[in-house]
This record gives sequence, structure tokens and C-alpha cells, in this order.
Amino acid sequence: MTVKLDDLVRGLKEIPDPEFLCEPVYQFLSDNPVDVDSMDPYMNWSEKFYTRNLVYKDERFELMVICWDKGQVSRIHNHSDQMCWMTVPVGRLKGQNFRVVEQIDSQNYCKLERTDSFSLSDCLAATVELEEPIHQILNLDKYNERAASIHIYSKPFDTCLSYCDETDRFSEVNLSYTSIKGKLCSDVVL
Ligand code: SIN
Repeated sequence: MTVKLDDLVRGLKEIPDPEFLCEPVYQFLSDNPVDVDSMDPYMNWSEKFYTRNLVYKDERFELMVICWDKGQVSRIHNHSDQMCWMTVPVGRLKGQNFRVVEQIDSQNYCKLERTDSFSLSDCLAATVELEEPIHQILNLDKYNERAASIHIYSKPFDTCLSYCDETDRFSEVNLSYTSIKGKLCSDVVL
């Protein structure tokens, strides 16, 4: 049994504040696999970048559909200390977690080490660990297919830290949407 994306949002809105925590929201996502057709208005693809398509946002959480063309990957990044959940209704994605080996804030220096990784498909859900929040999401070339995932962030955030594992430097980056509620943003060229 799948639910329409709008109904998933409705269900999330009904979760009382004290229960809007890692485990209950993870359980809710796991119990409510999303009907892929209902994601259609939020599916935008670009050969240049993965697309971030905002479905819903309030003070407490935002929900996005992210579309990954073959081989597209996110930056290595954190989530600004916010709770995050994801599920992958289309295709397959790898999540790679990292731990900080050494960090010197005054120099924007951060040495990272890969830790565990996970693979998501078939509406499996995952949370970003608050204790080890630095990660990268990858649609590996070898999967040879597009993927679309649903991400919930609580609270919403529009900047995060991005890490370069070649230079061992990090910086704050702005996050933007490709589309909002089914409408392409005016500055976006797919
Ligand atoms: C993003 O929000 O741009 C990347 C997806 C994620 O790390 O959850």
C-alpha cells in the first residue's frame, strides 16, 4: 500500500511537536511508502546538477523531492545540526558518512575519514545521524539509472557546511531550490 505525496505531507503535519523526533518520523516514513506517480509535479531533471524541489515548508519542517541524474552526487556536507530523514522511491542511492579526524575552525581546516555507508532503494528510509552528521549522497555511475528521493529537514535550513576532501577545507554554502510547489524557480535553467 502506497500513499500519495500530499498525504505523506498531511500525515507529517499531524505528528504532534513532542513526537516530531528521529525515531517516530523515521517509523512514519517507513510505514508510508510513497506512490511514485504522485511525485510527478516535483520531478525536474538536469544534466548539470541534481535538482532540489520543494514540496512543503513550514516553521517545523521542509519536504523536498530531489532528482538525481545518473552519476550525480551531492557535496560532502552537514545539515546545520537539524534532524533529517530520507527515503528513495525511485532508483537507488548510496549514503556515505564521514567523521571528523581533526578540525581547526580558524583555518577552515577539517580532516575527514570515511565511516559507514548505506544503500537506499524501494522506499527504504534513513535518518542522518545527529552524532555523525557529515555525509554525501551518491547516485553511482554503476547504478546506471536516475533516482528520486524524498528529504525531510527539521527545522528547514538554507545554508550548510561543505567539505572538500582533497584540500581538507570547509566553507559555508547557500542552498537553493530548483522548483517550489511544482513551479520552476525563475533563476533556474535546467
Ligand atoms: C541536499 O539537501 O541538497 C542533499 C541531500 C541530503 O544530503 O540529504
